Amino acid sequence: MGDILCIKGGVRLSGTVRAQGAKNAALPIMAATLLLEEGTVLINRVPRLDDVAIMADLLRHLGAKVDHSGELMQINITHDPRLFETPEGLVRKMRASSLVLGPLLARRGKAILPLPGGCSIGSRPIDLHLKGLARMGANLEIRRGAVYATAPGRLRGSRIYLDFPSVGATENLLMAAASAKGETVLENAAREPEITNLAQALTTMGAVIEGAGSGTIHIQGVETLKGGPMTVIPDRIEASTFLIAGAATGGEVTVIDVVPEHMEALLAKLEEAGASLMVKESSVTVRVDRPLTGVTLKTLPYPGFPTDLQPQMMVLLCLAEKTGVIHETVFESRFLHVGELKRMGAQIELQGNTSIVTGVPFLNGAEVHGTDLRACAALAIAGLAAKGTTLLKETHHLWRGYENFVDKMNDLGGKIFISNENDVCSPTATSLRELPSLQ
Ligand code: UD1
Repeated sequence: MGDILCIKGGVRLSGTVRAQGAKNAALPIMAATLLLEEGTVLINRVPRLDDVAIMADLLRHLGAKVDHSGELMQINITHDPRLFETPEGLVRKMRASSLVLGPLLARRGKAILPLPGGCSIGSRPIDLHLKGLARMGANLEIRRGAVYATAPGRLRGSRIYLDFPSVGATENLLMAAASAKGETVLENAAREPEITNLAQALTTMGAVIEGAGSGTIHIQGVETLKGGPMTVIPDRIEASTFLIAGAATGGEVTVIDVVPEHMEALLAKLEEAGASLMVKESSVTVRVDRPLTGVTLKTLPYPGFPTDLQPQMMVLLCLAEKTGVIHETVFESRFLHVGELKRMGAQIELQGNTSIVTGVPFLNGAEVHGTDLRACAALAIAGLAAKGTTLLKETHHLWRGYENFVDKMNDLGGKIFISNENDVCSPTATSLRELPSLQ
């Protein structure tokens, strides 16, 4: 439930936005602070998001002091080996809570983690995390829906092959290995920029890591790690969401303070669809001044096309000429937004994990429900591009991953406001900056 977004469609977004710090890098870096015996870590460019607040609560539950002021987060760790249990309430709110498993086990020798369970985009097990930790000498037992893990003495370095380059498993094992005894080699590791950012943070803490960002990572475990300053990379998914919004509305949008190299798969597909791009050292501009054409894409681990941009890109294909095809290979059921887009007049045929999208001249505003974080962002883009008004419900997903989403879209000329009313875009709504122009 929560807020409702009322979106007046038919705008061409235009202007400049600055990317937030990456949610998916901030979360593991925060979890990594549990590797400290004691000390202070300063993390720059931490986005103000619900998921970040959940991770902060989890760290507090485990004895840390966490202060998040503006973009700066300060975490103070004082070692308390009695705190090793993660509460089910927090783990259920956010799957990334499982990232504390590796550091807890490595530093406190014990961890209890309720199994995260499924979520709307798939069953999302953590078997690869557990298998890797077992290779490092952890004893793992699953009882009453929770993992009970112990590591007698220190975890020991090991050669670990991941059956799939899971982002979370690579991060958990990287953190555990940083303070294990001896060398760990992670094979078929995830290569996402967020992994490299975590490795940089761990290196600042004194870890010895080589090869992060490639499929093979070598980690020499060290006994003690220390605090230090670190910086979160720009959020490539958030930045890309604004670029897709610019393209889907036929506008011109620039994102600044980004690493364009992290967004190459998206940029290639935008260009293939007919958008014009201007790529500079730390900014990207997209402009669309002719009809877009459908493209075929397949979601894959980095550097492939990110699954976290699949729903947003689908909106663009809904409005392109000719047919586009999307193969989702990372998650088993990440097409819940298809039904919502169809309510807006999209023509999409779903065949297993493939969507065939036939472009239509326009979408129509409708009442739609956000089914997960990126689906919510996609539906907001669809609403901005559509004719008429869209009511987007269940926006709580959006606040998990996008900081100031409404203000940023409205700065680009969007007409979105937040309403607590159930069914109307009324002037009693609570947002507001753009309200006068809506009337
Ligand atoms: C991370 C991102 C998420 C993104 C995903 C894929 C964070 C906080 N979240 O999620 O936004 O969509 O990467 O890019 O960084 N799997 C298993 N067993 C495991 C682990 C994963 O089968 O032990 C499967 C999952 O069910 C899924 C696939 O592997 O189908 C990818 O998962 P993974 O790379 O682990 O994603 P997350 O780390 O959960």
